[in-house]
Amino acid sequence: MAGSTRTPPVDFVVVSNRLPVDAKPGADGEQQWVTSPGGLVAALQPVMAGREAAWVGWPGLADTPLETFSLDRTHYVPVSMSEREVAEHYEGMSNATIWPLYHDVIVAPQFHRDWWETYRVVNQRFAEAAAAVASEGGFVWVQDYQLQLVPQMLRVLRPDLRIGYFHHIPFPSSELFGQLPWRQEILHGLLGADVVGFQRAVDASNMRQAVRRNVGYSMKKPIVRVPLDARVPRDPDSPPVTASKTREVRVDVFPISLDQAAIVELATTDSVRARATAIREELGQPGTVFLGVDRLDYTKGISHRLKAFGELLAEGTLEASDAVFVQLASPSRERVESYRQLRDDIELQVGRINGEFGHLGRPAIVYLHQNISRDEMMALYLACDVMVVTPLRDGMNLVAKEFVSARTDNKGVLVLSEFTGAADELDQALMVNPHDIDGMKEAFVQAANMSPDEASTRMAALRATVEEHDVRRWATSFLDAVTPPRPKPRR
Ligand code: F6P
Repeated sequence: MAGSTRTPPVDFVVVSNRLPVDAKPGADGEQQWVTSPGGLVAALQPVMAGREAAWVGWPGLADTPLETFSLDRTHYVPVSMSEREVAEHYEGMSNATIWPLYHDVIVAPQFHRDWWETYRVVNQRFAEAAAAVASEGGFVWVQDYQLQLVPQMLRVLRPDLRIGYFHHIPFPSSELFGQLPWRQEILHGLLGADVVGFQRAVDASNMRQAVRRNVGYSMKKPIVRVPLDARVPRDPDSPPVTASKTREVRVDVFPISLDQAAIVELATTDSVRARATAIREELGQPGTVFLGVDRLDYTKGISHRLKAFGELLAEGTLEASDAVFVQLASPSRERVESYRQLRDDIELQVGRINGEFGHLGRPAIVYLHQNISRDEMMALYLACDVMVVTPLRDGMNLVAKEFVSARTDNKGVLVLSEFTGAADELDQALMVNPHDIDGMKEAFVQAANMSPDEASTRMAALRATVEEHDVRRWATSFLDAVTPPRPKPRR
């Protein structure tokens, strides 16, 4: 890893709140880098591979200015945040206001003017960092809800750039979005991009509806016409602007995916396969292994699925000597109060179910609150019979797609919440409403008893879907939208 203080101008820049690697102080005081959690990194890394590019983001530590460093052909540009900025931009405005609001208010969003001010300041810093590394006429791709003001800030700093914004999480209905005291500013920020991309058609349509209601720009789906002199706040009743004084912003759908070939390669290594066999042995060779893999987040519906599993044990439909639920919950946003509370609630629930239904050396739920390696994750996917992905709301959920990609043996059943973006594509999964505990119990039993033929037919269809909608196709379709092929010159 080469360290330097300057990055040459590059024509492909990704900006995300987090860098794909988090800085961690090692035991010996040496700086260490570990892969950051979550789907965004998993999806973008293959897109960056092999290009001359820059990645602008926060390295995960407060008050720690770090130098730019390069690895292969990617230049990593760390943006620093003070302790207060981490508390108010990341933990506050991003994850205690926008995150719950955009995920259908599963917990109540908090609105604080101080947080909003810090969110603006931090967004401006990200915009300046991106402006400093992008070449003339280059492309900057801004990622996700923590940076919704960056597209417009960047346009002001660098009108020469092509700017894309991709939103990884849901965009709420305009009624919910309308609760935001800063709704016009957010829309203005997003509309600084040339293309605003969403996971699902409903997200794109929600944003267009929010634009219609709050700023009143004219549009012809999927194009919004933004006045060149757009300002906030704007009176939504002011007369429409003539087309010559507007620019076009495409607000459209680009469902994210993953690198199926890379996952197949990892999942078919001898060591991963051997580990999968060993996991089943360590679990005591149960008849059915259920698996949940999530960040520990209240949007993921972990308690709902454990409740369903617990009830099946209580009724005797499942027996802890024959069925086990492995729940991996990786630590996430641990200083945000709703996440602390969630951890307490889940751990209480796991303890109760195990206390009541487990046997010596055979817990009903094997619960892990830790980060595990990619290899171990693949082995878990291969070791399970039923993969349970039941968020109450999720932008896409790449775990569902990863599981499917890993199952080259066409075995295993996916139980999937209809409230994930993935449900729009993975229609051969057993679809559930996670709020309907009885419906989820039925799906668990159906999955556990599914004939190998039916499971294999469903899995083959799921795999074909993921293979066709690879992450490269996602990236290419987005980039083509930002830079449409030039029309041939007229003779
Ligand atoms: O899914 C939204 C998201 O922000 C992803 O972009 C990210 O990978 C994940 O959540 C984890 O985010 P955080 O930076 O809060 O750990």
